[in-house]
Amino acid sequence: MRFEGRVVLVTGAASGIGRAAVLQFTREGATVLAADRSDAVQAVVETAGGKTVGLVGDAADEAFVGLAVDRAVRDFGRLDAVFANAGVSGGMTMLADLQVSEWEAVLRVNLIGVFLAIREAARVMVPVGRGAIVSTASVAGIRSGAGGIPYSASKAGVINLTQTAANQLGGTGVRVNCICPGLTETGMTAPMFEGARARGKEDRLGQLNALRRYASPEEQAAVAVFLASDEASYVNGQAIAVDGGLSSSHPTVPGKFV
Ligand SMILES: NC(=O)c1ccc[n+]([C@@H]2O[C@H](COP(=O)([O-])OP(=O)(O)OC[C@H]3O[C@@H](n4cnc5c(N)ncnc54)[C@H](O)[C@@H]3O)[C@@H](O)[C@H]2O)c1
Repeated sequence: MRFEGRVVLVTGAASGIGRAAVLQFTREGATVLAADRSDAVQAVVETAGGKTVGLVGDAADEAFVGLAVDRAVRDFGRLDAVFANAGVSGGMTMLADLQVSEWEAVLRVNLIGVFLAIREAARVMVPVGRGAIVSTASVAGIRSGAGGIPYSASKAGVINLTQTAANQLGGTGVRVNCICPGLTETGMTAPMFEGARARGKEDRLGQLNALRRYASPEEQAAVAVFLASDEASYVNGQAIAVDGGLSSSHPTVPGKFV
């Protein structure tokens, strides 16, 4: 019960990693504000039970993020942790055809949304001298090969934002970290999983990492929950790869080189 008596805000809470995090935080005693642009978040609230409330809105909207943070303080008296997890994948448009509008759509949610969550959370956490902010970057933000160009750049931005925010908040008692998931079965990756299964190639999914498998949303959420907890009290400014070892190796030809 690492979150007994604590209040946590999760964005992107209706599906995948965010949904799994809501359920884990709730099981550990937290009162959770579960925010998503989809009203499917209400089903997550019902599954989580008692101390979870749903908020429907846009995680990249300045007013909505500010209100969500204010709601935590107004209704529950505190805000201990934020998991800024909402994200969109964007398309896989090749460089030559990529439009500014595609950049704007992805950066708005994936990077500006995380910035807003950090700024607004810090607004209420700094005065009380404690708090934990976790966001969801990606292995796509570490190097090429795991997403479209705007998506990858947005996630690299989240990793750097984690570092700069943690240091700008130095001495305040507020920690900032992010997770960098590898391939995880969620709403975002459903088309890839469905396509592989339809072609009878499910066994290829996740085969590039040292564990030779993809992740569950629960495995990602568990690391975010750890980073938000007091167990991670000396972890700050870090991007933790949760990728089965993918980012630990240069590409190799299996069996030729170990
Ligand atoms: N699934 C993967 O393999 C993978 C890998 C690396 C990183 N990620 C990241 O994990 C995070 C969670 O994604 P997921 O994989 O669980 O996908 P998902 O699609 O299952 O969940 C994402 C949720 O975010 C919500 N959302 C999107 N834009 C929003 C906005 N503007 N405001 C509020 N809510 C919004 C969606 O409605 C959805 O419920 C994302 O940031 C994603 O980039 C996922």
